[in-house]
Amino acid sequence: MIDMRDGVAVVYLNNPPVNSLGHLLRSFLAQAIDAAENDDTVCGIVLAGSKEAFSAGADIKEFGTTLQLAEPMLRTLIARVESCRKPVVAAIEGVALGGGLELAMACHGRVALASSRLGLPEISLGLIPGSGGTQRLPRLTGVKVALAMMLSGQTKTAHELAGTSLLDHVVESSLLEVAANLVRKLASSSSLSLAATQPVDAAQVIAAVEQERARLNTRQMLQPAYAALLDAVTAVTLPIKEGLQRERTLFLQLLSSTAAQALRYQFKAEREATRLPNSLQAQEREIRQIAVIGAGTMGTGIAISALDAGFNVLLLEQSDEALQRGLSKVVDHYASRIAAGKESADRAAVRQSRLVGSTSWSRLSLADLVIEAVFEDLEAKQEVFKRLDVYAKQGAILATNTSYLDIDAIASTTSRPWDVVGMHFFSPAQVMKLLEVVRGAQTSSEVLSTAMAFGRSLKKLPVLSENSFGFIGNRIYNAYRRQCEFMLEDGAYPEDIDQALTAFGFAMGPFAVADLSGLDIAWRMRQAQSAIRNPKERYVAILDRLCEIGRLGRKIGAGYYTYLDGKKAKTSDAKVRAVIDEASAKRGIVRRTLLVAEIQRRALLAMANEAALLLAEGVAARPGDVDVVLVQGYGFPRWEGGPMHWALNQDPVRLEIELNALAQNTGHGFVKGDFCRLGSTINNTIQGNLN
Ligand code: COA
Repeated sequence: MIDMRDGVAVVYLNNPPVNSLGHLLRSFLAQAIDAAENDDTVCGIVLAGSKEAFSAGADIKEFGTTLQLAEPMLRTLIARVESCRKPVVAAIEGVALGGGLELAMACHGRVALASSRLGLPEISLGLIPGSGGTQRLPRLTGVKVALAMMLSGQTKTAHELAGTSLLDHVVESSLLEVAANLVRKLASSSSLSLAATQPVDAAQVIAAVEQERARLNTRQMLQPAYAALLDAVTAVTLPIKEGLQRERTLFLQLLSSTAAQALRYQFKAEREATRLPNSLQAQEREIRQIAVIGAGTMGTGIAISALDAGFNVLLLEQSDEALQRGLSKVVDHYASRIAAGKESADRAAVRQSRLVGSTSWSRLSLADLVIEAVFEDLEAKQEVFKRLDVYAKQGAILATNTSYLDIDAIASTTSRPWDVVGMHFFSPAQVMKLLEVVRGAQTSSEVLSTAMAFGRSLKKLPVLSENSFGFIGNRIYNAYRRQCEFMLEDGAYPEDIDQALTAFGFAMGPFAVADLSGLDIAWRMRQAQSAIRNPKERYVAILDRLCEIGRLGRKIGAGYYTYLDGKKAKTSDAKVRAVIDEASAKRGIVRRTLLVAEIQRRALLAMANEAALLLAEGVAARPGDVDVVLVQGYGFPRWEGGPMHWALNQDPVRLEIELNALAQNTGHGFVKGDFCRLGSTINNTIQGNLN
């Protein structure tokens, strides 16, 4: 659509929902610029988007298809804007991301609403900006700001960017009017200035790039896009044409990299996972008032999430003392956010004003959704649900934050099991985005849909799971940890395994994680299950022995590792090695060196195999759901896509051989997953996503 405003052509980007720059939109814009340039009644052009988006950038769905390279390509369009003989001004509202911001940066002027958000998020897709972003942004904002934006992939508001040459005007209202006035002003000036011709301080660029290179962490160094970005920004010191060429070469190398493919897959999988399969979608119930039962770390974290999302929250505890402790945690949380400059005092006050604490169960009658977050014990949770049945109003949703217990056994203590659902938050609940929404046998579709929508409103990633021990995440993680324990007995030590897996990209190794969570939790669970454990199954007793000698984890300075002087830094310990060596000897294993690749592949295959079983059982609805859970909740490297994505990109013959070896290593009870069937499912899904 094109509007005329006193000699200024306002050209609207119109490709809902986010004005991604697909081929059709690019063609329209190129034609609109040609037409305006040739129309003597037009003095210049304003490019404008919608309230939500100026543009969210290149159309991700076109990546890897011929449309992405069909003319006018994004960079052709951008060159066309730059060479336009009449001034072009971008009027930015909503988001201007990736190619959207690159397009705006090629304009002769930019005006933005203060609240609009600008960024170059390509790094989160394993890419660098490929249409001039790496060359123009440093010229407009200065190299430091530009590097920070591109390396983090995060947006900044126009308000924050005011004062840089990126924006000529930052306004609270009258965006189009101000943009049109700027066009008229530029039209009457003798020459048009461009980002590309802004001067560059080469020494400053090199110094800033080298500083960032030294700061890259291990996980960033594993992803090729980070080094490529720094190389592209170094090219800002070259003449613009050469800089653009360098950027293009690096961009094209990254486009087909396995990391970029995996990250695109995750982008789609995350969005897909938060939606229920069609057959389960139903009318959502209205949720305004939340109640959280239990003011421990989990309960208060959930309460903070809900307060941040604008809900009224009632926090319920058994005693005044416990309640006060919980309320103080919330107060402390906001105080530290304010101190760190992450939250304004006014906003924090508004959020906290919506929180009420109580020890009276009768207050629950107001809640539309009650989330139980008491400690992980079936009987304790059943007691809570019996009381909920008495005090919660009819139609209220009754959710349990259990991480592995049977939802049906909890629901059965109420007269309304269809209103009961699992909502498994991850700790710290105010930070972690993952939320497993667990369907009990009788959970109604309405309740399930509402729980998913509630998760989305908390800005979390809710993923559906059926009711099965450990749900999706803990079940796969258990299989992985178990395989890592086998490797301890076979010849590796905790540091060998942890180092191999962090080298693959995991945030932490399994034994460092175990120490952090506390070995006693796993020990208690093992003791509880000892009666039902099949004696033929391979069982590694190393953790039990460590607990018996008092090594309960990081909290007491000793677990799989020793933590000196309460420090985070860990060292390996001869006592632990002795326990491990003894376990190997007891099983009659001659210890051997396990190579890094073997450790990585065994651990990954154990995960992938369990994921395949769980998909076959229908516990997870889609392969992508599994991958989102492992990436978001368990530190699996996002740029490897998740265990299913990883497995299905392996050579199938090698996979089969290694699965057979895994069966041997695991012994009695091992069930092999069917990757052939899953391979075709996942390929269909990816194909469907691209169409
Ligand atoms: N290309 C194609 N589709 C895009 C897109 C893009 N650049 N950005 C978003 N979309 C789609 C999403 O896939 C989703 O489609 P769906 O409803 O079919 O799943 C829809 O737009 C809405 O996006 P969603 O993320 O669910 O909405 P939101 O309001 O939470 O967030 C954005 C909007 C724009 C902030 C977010 O989508 C985003 O960050 N997009 C990526 C931008 C980017 O990386 N651009 C650079 C590309 S190289």
